[in-house]
Amino acid sequence: MYTREFWDMVYRRHIYDAPWMSDSCVRAHMTNIEKYISDVNGLDLLDYGCGSGELAFHFFKKGARVDLADISDELIAWLKKKYAKEDIGIYCVETPKELQRNQKQYDIIVATSFFHHIEPDLWKTFLQDFAALLKQGGLLIIGGWDQTDEVIAEDKNTARFTGQKTWPLNDMRALIEQMDEYEIKVNTLENLQIDAFSIPRKIRYYILKKQ
Ligand SMILES: C[S@@+](CC[C@H](N)C(=O)[O-])C[C@H]1O[C@@H](n2cnc3c(N)ncnc32)[C@H](O)[C@@H]1O
Repeated sequence: MYTREFWDMVYRRHIYDAPWMSDSCVRAHMTNIEKYISDVNGLDLLDYGCGSGELAFHFFKKGARVDLADISDELIAWLKKKYAKEDIGIYCVETPKELQRNQKQYDIIVATSFFHHIEPDLWKTFLQDFAALLKQGGLLIIGGWDQTDEVIAEDKNTARFTGQKTWPLNDMRALIEQMDEYEIKVNTLENLQIDAFSIPRKIRYYILKKQ
Protein backbone atom coordinates (compact mmCIF):
# COMPACT_ATOMS: atom_id res chain seq x y z
CA MET A 1 0.00 0.00 0.00
CA TYR A 2 1.40 3.43 -0.81
CA THR A 3 1.94 5.48 2.31
CA ARG A 4 0.09 8.53 3.61
CA GLU A 5 3.28 10.54 2.90
CA PHE A 6 3.10 9.46 -0.75
CA TRP A 7 -0.52 10.58 -1.19
CA ASP A 8 0.16 13.82 0.72
CA MET A 9 2.98 14.55 -1.72
CA VAL A 10 0.65 13.87 -4.68
CA TYR A 11 -2.03 16.19 -3.31
CA ARG A 12 0.41 18.95 -2.30
CA ARG A 13 1.38 19.18 -5.97
CA HIS A 14 -1.69 18.04 -7.87
CA ILE A 15 -4.89 18.64 -5.93
CA TYR A 16 -6.43 20.40 -8.96
CA ASP A 17 -4.80 18.64 -11.89
CA ALA A 18 -4.61 14.93 -10.95
CA PRO A 19 -6.65 13.15 -13.67
CA TRP A 20 -9.11 11.58 -11.21
CA MET A 21 -9.88 15.02 -9.73
CA SER A 22 -11.36 16.15 -13.07
CA ASP A 23 -15.10 16.52 -13.63
CA SER A 24 -14.97 14.18 -16.59
CA CYS A 25 -13.47 11.36 -14.52
CA VAL A 26 -16.07 11.75 -11.78
CA ARG A 27 -18.87 11.94 -14.35
CA ALA A 28 -17.66 8.76 -16.06
CA HIS A 29 -17.71 6.77 -12.78
CA MET A 30 -21.09 8.31 -11.94
CA THR A 31 -22.65 7.24 -15.24
CA ASN A 32 -21.33 3.70 -14.84
CA ILE A 33 -22.40 3.40 -11.19
CA GLU A 34 -25.83 4.95 -11.60
CA LYS A 35 -26.83 1.93 -13.67
CA TYR A 36 -26.79 -0.02 -10.38
CA ILE A 37 -27.93 2.54 -7.82
CA SER A 38 -30.53 5.04 -8.87
CA ASP A 39 -32.63 5.95 -5.85
CA VAL A 40 -30.28 6.85 -2.99
CA ASN A 41 -32.65 9.11 -1.09
CA GLY A 42 -32.34 8.42 2.65
CA LEU A 43 -29.53 5.89 2.22
CA ASP A 44 -26.20 5.97 4.11
CA LEU A 45 -23.28 6.11 1.67
CA LEU A 46 -19.53 6.00 2.26
CA ASP A 47 -17.02 7.00 -0.42
CA TYR A 48 -13.72 5.33 0.55
CA GLY A 49 -10.52 6.68 -1.06
CA CYS A 50 -12.77 9.55 -2.06
CA GLY A 51 -10.42 11.92 -3.95
CA SER A 52 -12.41 15.03 -4.94
CA GLY A 53 -15.49 13.83 -3.03
CA GLU A 54 -17.62 14.86 -6.01
CA LEU A 55 -18.96 11.37 -6.71
CA ALA A 56 -20.42 11.12 -3.21
CA PHE A 57 -21.50 14.77 -3.29
CA HIS A 58 -23.60 13.98 -6.35
CA PHE A 59 -25.44 11.33 -4.32
CA PHE A 60 -25.64 13.70 -1.33
CA LYS A 61 -27.56 16.14 -3.54
CA LYS A 62 -29.93 13.28 -4.38
CA GLY A 63 -30.72 12.76 -0.70
CA ALA A 64 -28.09 10.27 0.52
CA ARG A 65 -26.41 10.75 3.91
CA VAL A 66 -22.74 10.80 3.00
CA ASP A 67 -19.36 10.16 4.63
CA LEU A 68 -16.00 10.62 2.88
CA ALA A 69 -12.78 8.83 3.86
CA ASP A 70 -9.26 9.08 2.50
CA ILE A 71 -5.69 8.44 3.62
CA SER A 72 -4.29 11.89 2.79
CA ASP A 73 -4.25 14.60 5.46
CA GLU A 74 -3.66 17.20 2.73
CA LEU A 75 -6.76 16.09 0.85
CA ILE A 76 -8.88 15.79 3.99
CA ALA A 77 -8.00 19.35 5.08
CA TRP A 78 -9.00 20.58 1.59
CA LEU A 79 -12.27 18.58 1.64
CA LYS A 80 -13.17 19.91 5.09
CA LYS A 81 -12.98 23.47 3.74
CA LYS A 82 -14.74 22.58 0.50
CA TYR A 83 -17.70 20.94 2.23
CA ALA A 84 -17.66 23.10 5.40
CA LYS A 85 -21.30 24.10 4.92
CA GLU A 86 -22.57 20.60 4.12
CA ASP A 87 -23.65 17.91 6.57
CA ILE A 88 -21.00 15.42 5.40
CA GLY A 89 -18.70 13.31 7.63
CA ILE A 90 -15.04 13.52 6.55
CA TYR A 91 -12.45 11.06 7.92
CA CYS A 92 -8.71 10.60 7.48
CA VAL A 93 -7.99 6.86 7.75
CA GLU A 94 -5.57 4.29 6.35
CA THR A 95 -7.91 1.32 6.49
CA PRO A 96 -11.70 0.83 6.51
CA LYS A 97 -11.30 -0.92 9.87
CA GLU A 98 -10.54 2.44 11.49
CA LEU A 99 -14.07 3.58 10.62
CA GLN A 100 -15.58 0.80 12.75
CA ARG A 101 -15.00 3.05 15.78
CA ASN A 102 -17.92 5.21 14.51
CA GLN A 103 -20.26 2.24 14.99
CA LYS A 104 -22.05 3.18 11.81
CA GLN A 105 -23.10 0.93 8.94
CA TYR A 106 -23.82 1.90 5.35
CA ASP A 107 -26.28 0.93 2.62
CA ILE A 108 -23.67 1.69 -0.05
CA ILE A 109 -19.88 1.88 -0.01
CA VAL A 110 -18.15 3.21 -3.12
CA ALA A 111 -14.43 2.65 -3.74
CA THR A 112 -13.54 3.82 -7.25
CA SER A 113 -10.05 3.96 -8.78
CA PHE A 114 -8.85 2.75 -5.39
CA PHE A 115 -8.14 -1.00 -5.15
CA HIS A 116 -5.60 -1.02 -8.00
CA HIS A 117 -3.37 1.04 -5.66
CA ILE A 118 -3.56 -1.66 -2.95
CA GLU A 119 -1.47 -4.87 -3.08
CA PRO A 120 -3.65 -7.95 -3.69
CA ASP A 121 -2.31 -9.48 -0.42
CA LEU A 122 -4.33 -6.82 1.40
CA TRP A 123 -7.52 -7.08 -0.66
CA LYS A 124 -9.14 -9.78 1.48
CA THR A 125 -8.66 -7.83 4.72
CA PHE A 126 -9.99 -4.64 3.12
CA LEU A 127 -13.00 -6.53 1.72
CA GLN A 128 -13.73 -8.07 5.14
CA ASP A 129 -13.44 -4.66 6.81
CA PHE A 130 -15.80 -3.13 4.26
CA ALA A 131 -18.27 -5.97 4.92
CA ALA A 132 -18.26 -5.07 8.63
CA LEU A 133 -19.21 -1.49 7.67
CA LEU A 134 -22.14 -2.59 5.48
CA LYS A 135 -25.73 -3.20 6.52
CA GLN A 136 -27.23 -6.56 5.59
CA GLY A 137 -27.97 -6.47 1.85
CA GLY A 138 -25.81 -3.35 1.46
CA LEU A 139 -23.72 -2.81 -1.68
CA LEU A 140 -19.97 -2.42 -2.06
CA ILE A 141 -19.19 -0.83 -5.43
CA ILE A 142 -15.61 -1.27 -6.57
CA GLY A 143 -14.09 0.18 -9.74
CA GLY A 144 -10.50 -0.03 -10.91
CA TRP A 145 -8.11 -0.73 -13.77
CA ASP A 146 -8.51 -4.00 -15.62
CA GLN A 147 -5.67 -5.98 -17.16
CA THR A 148 -7.24 -5.55 -20.59
CA ASP A 149 -6.78 -1.79 -20.35
CA GLU A 150 -4.43 -0.80 -23.15
CA VAL A 151 -2.60 1.76 -21.06
CA ILE A 152 -1.99 -0.68 -18.21
CA ALA A 153 -0.76 -3.36 -20.60
CA GLU A 154 1.53 -0.87 -22.32
CA ASP A 155 2.83 0.58 -19.05
CA LYS A 156 3.38 -2.84 -17.46
CA ASN A 157 1.00 -2.15 -14.56
CA THR A 158 2.42 1.23 -13.67
CA ALA A 159 0.07 4.15 -13.17
CA ARG A 160 1.00 6.87 -15.64
CA PHE A 161 0.26 9.75 -13.33
CA THR A 162 1.77 8.54 -10.03
CA GLY A 163 4.51 6.42 -11.62
CA GLN A 164 3.70 3.68 -9.07
CA LYS A 165 2.92 0.00 -9.58
CA THR A 166 -0.75 -0.91 -9.87
CA TRP A 167 -2.57 -4.22 -9.50
CA PRO A 168 -5.42 -4.66 -12.02
CA LEU A 169 -8.70 -5.89 -10.61
CA ASN A 170 -9.53 -8.76 -12.97
CA ASP A 171 -8.13 -11.30 -10.47
CA MET A 172 -10.36 -10.05 -7.67
CA ARG A 173 -13.34 -12.13 -8.74
CA ALA A 174 -11.73 -15.42 -7.69
CA LEU A 175 -11.05 -13.97 -4.24
CA ILE A 176 -14.58 -12.63 -3.80
CA GLU A 177 -16.03 -15.99 -4.79
CA GLN A 178 -14.17 -17.64 -1.88
CA MET A 179 -15.58 -15.15 0.63
CA ASP A 180 -18.76 -15.80 2.62
CA GLU A 181 -19.40 -12.11 3.17
CA TYR A 182 -20.56 -11.24 -0.35
CA GLU A 183 -22.60 -12.33 -3.29
CA ILE A 184 -21.47 -10.78 -6.60
CA LYS A 185 -24.34 -8.95 -8.25
CA VAL A 186 -22.42 -7.63 -11.23
CA ASN A 187 -18.91 -7.94 -12.59
CA THR A 188 -18.54 -5.71 -15.60
CA LEU A 189 -16.01 -3.96 -17.78
CA GLU A 190 -16.74 -0.39 -18.82
CA ASN A 191 -14.96 2.45 -20.55
CA LEU A 192 -13.84 5.43 -18.54
CA GLN A 193 -13.51 8.13 -21.16
CA ILE A 194 -11.99 11.22 -19.60
CA ASP A 195 -10.47 14.35 -21.10
CA ALA A 196 -7.17 13.77 -19.27
CA PHE A 197 -6.56 10.50 -21.16
CA SER A 198 -6.44 10.42 -24.94
CA ILE A 199 -7.82 6.86 -25.12
CA PRO A 200 -10.64 5.30 -23.11
CA ARG A 201 -9.47 3.42 -20.02
CA LYS A 202 -11.03 0.07 -19.17
CA ILE A 203 -12.53 -0.11 -15.72
CA ARG A 204 -13.56 -3.33 -14.00
CA TYR A 205 -16.55 -2.79 -11.71
CA TYR A 206 -17.66 -5.25 -9.06
CA ILE A 207 -21.01 -4.69 -7.39
CA LEU A 208 -21.00 -6.83 -4.24
CA LYS A 209 -24.00 -7.46 -2.04
CA LYS A 210 -23.42 -8.26 1.63
CA GLN A 211 -25.06 -11.61 2.40
C1 LIG B 1 -6.79 7.49 -7.87
S1 LIG B 1 -7.50 8.24 -6.48
C2 LIG B 1 -9.25 7.93 -6.76
C3 LIG B 1 -10.14 8.92 -6.07
C4 LIG B 1 -11.64 8.73 -6.25
N1 LIG B 1 -12.12 7.53 -5.61
C5 LIG B 1 -12.04 8.74 -7.71
O1 LIG B 1 -12.55 7.74 -8.22
O2 LIG B 1 -11.82 9.77 -8.36
C6 LIG B 1 -7.12 7.11 -5.14
C7 LIG B 1 -7.48 7.70 -3.79
O3 LIG B 1 -7.35 6.69 -2.79
C8 LIG B 1 -6.74 7.27 -1.64
N2 LIG B 1 -6.12 6.17 -0.88
C9 LIG B 1 -5.04 5.45 -1.24
N3 LIG B 1 -4.76 4.50 -0.31
C10 LIG B 1 -5.70 4.63 0.66
C11 LIG B 1 -5.97 3.94 1.88
N4 LIG B 1 -5.21 2.93 2.30
N5 LIG B 1 -7.03 4.33 2.62
C12 LIG B 1 -7.82 5.38 2.21
N6 LIG B 1 -7.62 6.08 1.07
C13 LIG B 1 -6.57 5.70 0.29
C14 LIG B 1 -5.77 8.31 -2.22
O4 LIG B 1 -5.39 9.30 -1.31
C15 LIG B 1 -6.58 8.86 -3.37
O5 LIG B 1 -7.38 9.95 -2.97
